Amino acid sequence: VGASQVNDQGHLLIGGVDTVDLAKSYGTPLIAYDTANIRQQIRGFKKIFDSAGVNYQISYASKAFATVAMYQLINQENINCDVVSAGELYTAMKAGFPMNKVSFHGNNKSVDELALALDQRIGCIIIDNFHELHLLDQLTTARKQHINVMLRVTPGISAHTHEYVMTGQEDSKFGFDIKSGQADSAIKQVLSAEYLDPIGAHCHIGSQIFATEGFIMAAQKMMDLILKWRNEYNFDAPVVNLGGGFGIRYTDDETPLHPEEFSQAILEEMKKIASKNQINLPEIWIEPGRSIVGNAGTSLYTIGSHKEIPGVRKYVAVDGGMGDNIRPALYQAKYETVLANKINAPVTQTVSIAGKYCESGDMLAWNQELPDTHSGDILAVLDTGAYGYSMASNYNRNPRPAVVFCENGKSQLVVKREQLEDLTRLDVPLNN
Ligand code: LLP
Repeated sequence: VGASQVNDQGHLLIGGVDTVDLAKSYGTPLIAYDTANIRQQIRGFKKIFDSAGVNYQISYASKAFATVAMYQLINQENINCDVVSAGELYTAMKAGFPMNKVSFHGNNKSVDELALALDQRIGCIIIDNFHELHLLDQLTTARKQHINVMLRVTPGISAHTHEYVMTGQEDSKFGFDIKSGQADSAIKQVLSAEYLDPIGAHCHIGSQIFATEGFIMAAQKMMDLILKWRNEYNFDAPVVNLGGGFGIRYTDDETPLHPEEFSQAILEEMKKIASKNQINLPEIWIEPGRSIVGNAGTSLYTIGSHKEIPGVRKYVAVDGGMGDNIRPALYQAKYETVLANKINAPVTQTVSIAGKYCESGDMLAWNQELPDTHSGDILAVLDTGAYGYSMASNYNRNPRPAVVFCENGKSQLVVKREQLEDLTRLDVPLNN
């Protein structure tokens, strides 16, 4: 937490708004986004491509955080987005997001989902497998409707955080395998399908990646593939989509690159390969999710009970937990926390932050160095903007939290807090 994020009262600020006031006005648990930070990340990715004057698209992977206001913000920043379900597509529609700037991912899109995408004339469907290719061929033929498509391929690179592995053949549920020739037969089928208009190839090598090597290797594999398609099938793919996965900082152990550095590395490599092979630089697409919203979000909780096991551990419990942030329980994800109403108070204890869910694994953070804590204090878990609210559940029949956007000292509610009556809205009582 930087000095600019603390006010005279020693309260944490988000987008210039006092988090203690936020907790008072909207209640807790509350997820507060610093929207200027979101804009800054997007602009970081764009900057390098803009100044190089090349064709590109930044497509926000909306699975990281998708609400009507978020799609509107993405649209204000004039980038594309990708969706992975009818639900995300519907939310984008409700936000008035331009449908020609949407691409649709997923390894098992239903007929209804494909039909909705066609009804909406979305920008591009990223075909994942032969079943989908066949369905989409049938649907578009029946409707006599053209649609841009990309093929998702698995280039045999998996990047896991600090490491990446080259396997040649990737064991993944997603996409057409390159090595065994699936990607080639898929493009042949697409090229012979009357209404499927291929625009390129897509790959996604993993998430929370810290080095550029994986992306550089992916760029090479993808360019090899489109060169092959060009030579063998006379198909000049206009787009190479390298997916998302750009890592962010959650704790001091992590030193991620800036969006600019990722863009730069990708652009340089793509240019190098294009000029070596004397072809035009294809349009470069990337799909950042986490890196756009992760650091912008903060979860605010009210501290309730404490439990100390002498000589072992002190638990501090908050009014949320795995229902609003399942990442610690699911992935052993680490977060840093601060006492939002006493940022400058001296550290006096090491405590572990427990959620309120009836499960021992419901811990939000371990071994946090904090000042004295009392019930009623506001605890902030930092950097929860990606895959927090979007993976929220009603486990234990807890209502999901509210979400606010903060910018220039002002806050705006963008998702209402769920109420108890919302929890039984879909329940149907016994009829006798
Ligand atoms: N493109 C595709 C095709 C993807 O599958 C994903 C993420 C992205 C882009 C965006 O990746 P990002 O830039 O956010 O890393 N729930 C997990 C993360 C799952 C990522 C799934 N795919 C988590 O909380 O860490």
